[in-house]
Amino acid sequence: MTDQTRRTFLKQAAIGAAVLAYPSSKALGANDRVRVGMIGVGDRGNDLLDQVVKVPNVDLVAMADVYSRRRDQAKSKVPGIKTLDDYRRLLDMKDIDGVIVASPLHIHARHFLDTLAAGKDLYAEKTMTWSIPEADKCLAAAKSSDRVVQIGLQHESSGALVDSKQLIKDGAVGKVTHVESWMSRNTPHGKGQWVRPVPSDCTPQNVDWKAFLNGRPDRPFDGFKLINWRLFWEFSGGNCAENMVHQIAWIMSALDLPLPSAAYMSGGVFSEKDGREVPDTIAVTLDFPTDMVVTWQSTFSNKHYELGDRILGSDGTVEHHFDEAAQYWPERVNRPSGEATRGKTHDQDHMRSCIECVGSRSQPIGPAEIGDRSAIAVHMANLSYKSKRRITMEEAKAVKPEF
Ligand SMILES: NC(=O)c1ccc[n+]([C@@H]2O[C@H](COP(=O)([O-])OP(=O)(O)OC[C@H]3O[C@@H](n4cnc5c(N)ncnc54)[C@H](O)[C@@H]3O)[C@@H](O)[C@H]2O)c1
Repeated sequence: MTDQTRRTFLKQAAIGAAVLAYPSSKALGANDRVRVGMIGVGDRGNDLLDQVVKVPNVDLVAMADVYSRRRDQAKSKVPGIKTLDDYRRLLDMKDIDGVIVASPLHIHARHFLDTLAAGKDLYAEKTMTWSIPEADKCLAAAKSSDRVVQIGLQHESSGALVDSKQLIKDGAVGKVTHVESWMSRNTPHGKGQWVRPVPSDCTPQNVDWKAFLNGRPDRPFDGFKLINWRLFWEFSGGNCAENMVHQIAWIMSALDLPLPSAAYMSGGVFSEKDGREVPDTIAVTLDFPTDMVVTWQSTFSNKHYELGDRILGSDGTVEHHFDEAAQYWPERVNRPSGEATRGKTHDQDHMRSCIECVGSRSQPIGPAEIGDRSAIAVHMANLSYKSKRRITMEEAKAVKPEF
């Protein structure tokens, strides 16, 4: 695969995700159709919608969103689609097999649990939930259900993960005591990362504001918060939930890591002081009981190094950048005749593999279990930041969330 082809493929994998249900344990045949609905079709939901309508054998039949603009957008893309303002009416539809959820983080758990309770297969965007107790509830529901559950952690489908796992298994990396990871972005001066303009039709008449609030204290309509929910803790998990989650899931999968034993996170709102609550500059340290430290560092005012992970072992180093193959270099002191290599495994399409699992009723590549572990790591980091101290896993699990 050329670099260009690889990049295109990775982009598609990054965009794509579908959830499909299939009634029996067999591969999808040419004439078999699966019927899909979507909940929350904003920016990410639109990416997923564009992907889903291209999947052979899939009919996107309905969508639910609290904002009329989103329903109109979906209708203009998929003229026959049924549009609903209440997701519960979508879940009532007996002829829908699978549901894709791309709502804001603070509503994930409700949509996750209700979708499984309605007997539908589920593709749920990351981070799996807004809090640790919600993550545990969702994991328990997924475990006791026979539905296919895939979390939108598309880095789990990367060929670099397959190659890194193999290098680790083969002993080429040796004892790993430290993994460093980073993710950086930049914006023009005066324009904060993530801030989106509020459309003129974003009014109380066109939005079910109470449904958006999802149990948060009632208050007058606030279009800025509806559109820019990512900036505020009551709806968001900040950049750990938006981006660290992809990388920590990837690292946990590569090294088969358990939950962190403790987390420390420092940082602040340093790049643009635009009223946001969640930090734009972050340094996270996660301690693992396997004698290992994972660090993740992020800034929103410099994107030179973009996104990457380095697994630092006594016998070798694995480096992974988002749109590249895993690279390996031996540590001469312990592997004098080892050779540098570059991974060759192709990425899987997160969507296609999900469809295959739906057909075969088998475990998808990003199940609720990695959704739960990565979500807990995210929340441990955020709880440490909020309490301005190192927090253990037991302490984090004992915290009663505000909502
Ligand atoms: N996997 C990825 O790479 C990736 C990339 C971007 C975003 N995401 C995730 O996708 C999710 C959505 O992000 P976004 O940027 O699309 O947000 P968004 O605000 O653009 O879209 C959310 C949509 O949900 C709707 N909504 C709000 N409350 C609802 C409710 N109660 N019922 C139904 N619909 C409701 C909103 O009107 C909006 O259309 C987030 O969890 C985010 O982390 C994942």
